[in-house]
Amino acid sequence: MSYQVIARKYRPQTFQDLVGQQHVTETLKNAIVNNRVAHAYIFSGARGVGKTTAARILAKALNCVKGPTPEPCGVCDSCKEIAAGTSLDVIEIDAASNRGIDQIRELREMVRYAPAASRTKVVILDEAHMLTGEASNALLKTLEEPPDRVVFVMATTEPENLEDTIRSRSQHFHFRALTFAEITKRLEEIAQKENLKIEPGATAVIARMAEGSLRDALSLLEQARAYCGDTIPDDQVRALLGVVPEDALEELVGAIAAGSADRALGLVHAFQKEGRNLQHFCREAIRHVRNLLIARVCGADSELIAATADQRPAIAKAAALFSEEDLTRFFQILLQTDDDLRRKPDPRVHLEMGLLRLINASRLAPLEELLAELKSGAPGSASAGTARVSSSGLPPVRQEISSPAIPAFTSPSRTAPPTPAAASTIPTRPEMNQQFPSQTAVSPAATSASSEVKAPNGNKEPVRVSGISPEQVAEIKTAIQAQQKFLGELVEQSIGWELEGAELRIYFSPDKRAFAEMIEGREPLEKIRAVSSTVLGRAVRVCARLESAAAAAAAASGSQELRAQFERDPLVRSMLQRFGGRITEVRARPEEK
Ligand SMILES: Nc1ncnc2c1ncn2[C@@H]1O[C@H](COP(=O)(O)OP(=O)(O)OP(=O)(O)O)[C@@H](O)[C@H]1O
Ligand SMILES: [Mg+2]
Ligand SMILES: [Zn+2]
Repeated sequence: MSYQVIARKYRPQTFQDLVGQQHVTETLKNAIVNNRVAHAYIFSGARGVGKTTAARILAKALNCVKGPTPEPCGVCDSCKEIAAGTSLDVIEIDAASNRGIDQIRELREMVRYAPAASRTKVVILDEAHMLTGEASNALLKTLEEPPDRVVFVMATTEPENLEDTIRSRSQHFHFRALTFAEITKRLEEIAQKENLKIEPGATAVIARMAEGSLRDALSLLEQARAYCGDTIPDDQVRALLGVVPEDALEELVGAIAAGSADRALGLVHAFQKEGRNLQHFCREAIRHVRNLLIARVCGADSELIAATADQRPAIAKAAALFSEEDLTRFFQILLQTDDDLRRKPDPRVHLEMGLLRLINASRLAPLEELLAELKSGAPGSASAGTARVSSSGLPPVRQEISSPAIPAFTSPSRTAPPTPAAASTIPTRPEMNQQFPSQTAVSPAATSASSEVKAPNGNKEPVRVSGISPEQVAEIKTAIQAQQKFLGELVEQSIGWELEGAELRIYFSPDKRAFAEMIEGREPLEKIRAVSSTVLGRAVRVCARLESAAAAAAAASGSQELRAQFERDPLVRSMLQRFGGRITEVRARPEEK
């Protein structure tokens, strides 16, 4: 027998074999038993989750000599032909490349004549949303007067883009993205059947990269076999897929915990020498810290962490080394580093700076110590700056220095706005006020300023909406929060909601890119989609967007000048450095405008 790629070879042949889509297969099986199979189905869902496979199994079930039966025999001529893709009863059309009216006319001709007695033709229209308007109309006519013993299955990744008239005449099944656990299990089964020795770590990497698509997972397994042979070790798969070795991430965490700049810089050095992509490393570090943060907040067994059972204890242990605030700060620093790596030349320098900031952030000096340093003018402190600040002619301003983002999702309650750590400690101390002349930046006002933060996304602006009411947004947010706290917290970071047609866009500011990216995962998107569709009473699709840089810049330009002055200020700089912070906002005091 000729060589078959793994994904083809292990295409499920029965409803039971189909992983993770029981909600669909049970309904189809019932319909077959009760002789209530519909004329038209919509199978929607992401790539490689079993839509085409299910359509073929349905065809087998209807045409098996023992059938119609929910359990096709697999050995009769019909079953074999369908499995081999040579059956005349199954017509597969790729609507993406046959979008026109002519093809649909042809199709109508084909299905007009009933198939041979006791058989049912199954027409699978792949990517059905790609049909032209004309072709959709022609298809609709067919669906309105369905020919006998013909079943249409419209498979699509974008069901919202099907004509409403077609949707209303079809039964709709949504195929869900597969979970990390489902994918690893299937990979393990297949590896065993293929006599592949694959390390659990390698399975985990593949499952993670597949992002819910079993086909992608099997293609990656195929690649891994081509690259490694029949023994597939973790490190080789990581090398193949450009994924950072787990022990490098552990080493990074160890270096941070030990406060060892040496060890952290050593990592960069080693990566550079091995010719690894430094941005990759930063991304992986972000993912790792995110996992630690989730482990801290929700527990290491959270399904939000894509890791195998035997990786979880290590994650729990590493997470226990840090506080939630620490991890949030690391997360933010790494995001900033990622941004630098993307936009600026010399990735090595930026990665090194980023890691040094991580190390510093993990050993924040007590405030008193810092103050003493500032006062005494110790080298590296900013005491010289202190003196200069008061006479630097800075305009009277109120400023908030926030410790890097403590994003809202760490705050336990929705009602209290997150108070940036630095803002809450620094300004309330009377000695600080003596230390800094009234004209200078850090004043008690900063505290009240931060409590003005109404929107949990850290902006003064309320969340911007268009095409959707603020009440609906609030309702969606509450429902998401109720379903999954962490996801709710992510959504809270949004700055705008826009509904246009069937597309619901959730906007994030560019510095919240990571939140947008987390939401962009299949499962989160699916959850938000389901909730939003329910609240809005109609099907929508959801996407996360970044607010354009131009829009953000326009909003910021007013404070640009003030900000520049502050950024040059040695005292402010020293504070930021010590706390690993950044200036979130600079505003003129209203009374002195
Ligand atoms: N739910 C599943 N259970 C078991 N195997 C699956 C499943 N989904 C996908 N696969 C594997 O992936 C391959 C491709 O699946 P299939 O063609 O059904 O995906 P699809 O949903 O139609 O994707 P696309 O939208 O890209 O057409 C199958 O041959 C099978 O090996
Ligand atoms: Mg398909
Ligand atoms: Zn059969």
